[in-house]
Amino acid sequence: MKQLFLMLVTAFAITSCGQHAQEKTLVVYFSHTNNTATIAEYIQSLTDADTFRIEPVMPYPSVYEQHEPIAKKERDEQARPALKAEVENLNEYDVIFIGFPIWWEDAPMIIATFLENHDFTGKTVVPFCTHGGGGSGQAFDQVKKYASSAKYLEGYQVKGSRATSDKPNVEQWLKRIGRVKN
Ligand SMILES: Cc1cc2nc3c(=O)[nH]c(=O)nc-3n(C[C@H](O)[C@H](O)[C@H](O)COP(=O)(O)O)c2cc1C
Repeated sequence: MKQLFLMLVTAFAITSCGQHAQEKTLVVYFSHTNNTATIAEYIQSLTDADTFRIEPVMPYPSVYEQHEPIAKKERDEQARPALKAEVENLNEYDVIFIGFPIWWEDAPMIIATFLENHDFTGKTVVPFCTHGGGGSGQAFDQVKKYASSAKYLEGYQVKGSRATSDKPNVEQWLKRIGRVKN
């Protein structure tokens, strides 16, 4: 009986590891001032994922005073800003990290455009964000709403000004959710 149990456990472990090894991971992110891009790079290097940077057709101004009203209008109107390019082969990926800055406690509307353009059925989505100190607000719930067919893993958030020294925390989080490459 004990031997049978051990055989079953071993078979399950082999099957699980095999599946995990075969999983393909993509890190998709939008970043206006590169804080989120920094976290995306850490995730990429720790998971061996591919990456895709979301770019808007109409770039946001670099001067905050010009950028702020545009982004606010998009949020108020629940706009769907157009993407310069799409991920053509999203169906090949099993796990998709999606990262962005927090804009007025929300995910930027371009994240809604991206998520609504794809079918996440059978995929696992992992949100991450950087912010100015206010936390992730309602953004992770919004991601779940925009891609409601996906399964979700625990998200990650960090203050943008800490991004450049945050790799150890990113690694801890990835270990917690079982996503660090061997
Ligand atoms: C238009 C706008 C709105 C913002 N709203 C918030 C907010 O509600 N809460 C917060 O903590 N930070 C807010 N921030 C700060 C950004 O989330 C933060 O600087 C983030 O790290 C920027 O990421 P990025 O460099 O990837 O673009 C806002 C920034 C901008 C430009």
